[in-house]
Amino acid sequence: MTSPTDTTAQPSPQASGRRARTIAVTSGKGGVGKTFISANLAAALSRRGQRVLVLDADLGLANLDVVLNLFPKNTLHDVFTGKCDLEAAILPAPGGFSVLLAGSGLVEYSRLTNDVREQLLDIIEKMKPRFDCIILDTGAGISDVVLFAVSLADEVMVVATPEPTSLTDAYATIKVLATQQGRRVIKLVVNQVARAGEGRTIRGQLQQVIDRYVSPMLGDENESLKLDLAGEVPIDPAVREAILKRQLLMEALPGSPAALGVGALADKLLG
Ligand SMILES: Nc1ncnc2c1ncn2[C@@H]1O[C@H](COP(=O)(O)OP(=O)(O)O)[C@@H](O)[C@H]1O
Ligand SMILES: [Mg+2]
Repeated sequence: MTSPTDTTAQPSPQASGRRARTIAVTSGKGGVGKTFISANLAAALSRRGQRVLVLDADLGLANLDVVLNLFPKNTLHDVFTGKCDLEAAILPAPGGFSVLLAGSGLVEYSRLTNDVREQLLDIIEKMKPRFDCIILDTGAGISDVVLFAVSLADEVMVVATPEPTSLTDAYATIKVLATQQGRRVIKLVVNQVARAGEGRTIRGQLQQVIDRYVSPMLGDENESLKLDLAGEVPIDPAVREAILKRQLLMEALPGSPAALGVGALADKLLG
């Protein structure tokens, strides 16, 4: 339902009639880099010619606005309460993509009403014809709110760090996504790796545990859950530097190891 007066992300001819792929970025443990990856992946995809929308779907602890240094006048909260219309809440972000920010008022949605659920679903459906990719920056864990936000996306990307606590929580999240949402392929991003190849090792370890304990729970004998390594991003002081400067890493330090890692993630996503 694209209106001819839309000012953001005009459909490009080759993309008209297509609908955005939707990717939920989630994690087991908090603070592992979901928002950092969502924002910088969006910037990397935009550089590659994709029309990208990032939706701040971490409804309880939204902070995408801080990472992007935006002070939105209109947020999802205002859309939900009827204070502004959807178009007014879609903002251009520094990395060349569009954002729909949650706003701190959304804390009260830490329990989702049916009305908010329906509105979110409706917003994403309305946005699909206008973008190539919609990234949902969701919260951590397996609460109803997080699982609902993840359920809105076709693809799910779990972010984990090599820390044992993060991996245990990632495993718990992956198990719930497979058993409750019927996911059979889950993308894994290993963030803050200390050396190249760590992501591959961790994916292998998690896959082994999944094969042993999760896949047998999926009903049919032939069913299995596949963990797909979407990429690894090194631990890099440049990430903090950029956040302190309130800049996107992709813009401030595009040659830094973490930015290159996110770039490779974008390349892999685009196949
Ligand atoms: N690759 C990285 N290297 C170094 N620090 C990182 C990296 N990724 C994330 N961080 C740090 O972790 C913090 C939390 O990241 P954030 O994206 O806000 O996590 P989440 O959204 O999962 O809660 C960031 O502020 C940053 O300081
Ligand atoms: Mg976050």
